[in-house]
Amino acid sequence: MISRKKELLTLMNIDTSWLKTKNNTNYDLQSFSQLQLEANNCQKCQLANGRNNVVFGEGNEKADILIIGEAPGKEEDLIGEPFIGRAGKLLTEILFSINLSRNDVYITNTVKCRPPENRNPNSTEISSCAHFLDKQISLISPKVIILLGKIAAERILNTSEPMAKLRSNIHYYKETNIPTLVFYHPAYLLRSPSEKKKVWDDILFMRENINVC
Ligand code: URA
Repeated sequence: MISRKKELLTLMNIDTSWLKTKNNTNYDLQSFSQLQLEANNCQKCQLANGRNNVVFGEGNEKADILIIGEAPGKEEDLIGEPFIGRAGKLLTEILFSINLSRNDVYITNTVKCRPPENRNPNSTEISSCAHFLDKQISLISPKVIILLGKIAAERILNTSEPMAKLRSNIHYYKETNIPTLVFYHPAYLLRSPSEKKKVWDDILFMRENINVC
């Protein structure tokens, strides 16, 4: 439909750069890099003082699956990419097991800068970063959001329910109809290997309920 419209407009010598492609517009893609630039220069909270890099996010900006973790760790801060340390390797393996590569999804964090000693981000840091995450969600417009761990779940679902209650349920992000699932954080699975099996239950739940993989 869109390409027919584009064809006709092009025949009429009318600029088509504003036309929508899938969920995203060219304008949106521009907004995405503008947002990243804004994040790179952000000084809104104290995490800006200790960072080597802002870890904005990585992957396919038109992905159906958006994965949100907690905060960058040491390796992520040094390189500027999310989930590249031990927890990241496990996340990559989990994706691989369902035939997805990191380029098939978009991966980001609740906060974009590393908290000192990998402590949990505090509420000021989370709210200083909220605008970046909300804008990323609206630009990507995913078919499903996966929240890794409690920090991401609390921020996105505005809840303090325990993980055990949040998993295996379909939630919705704010007033959108984007289904949102909560999975155990891969760092937790590394600390408690006996819980690893539960990630397969989470994936099974996603496969049974949402048509994305
Ligand atoms: N843990 C996270 O939550 N995010 C990362 O990017 C790395 C580890």
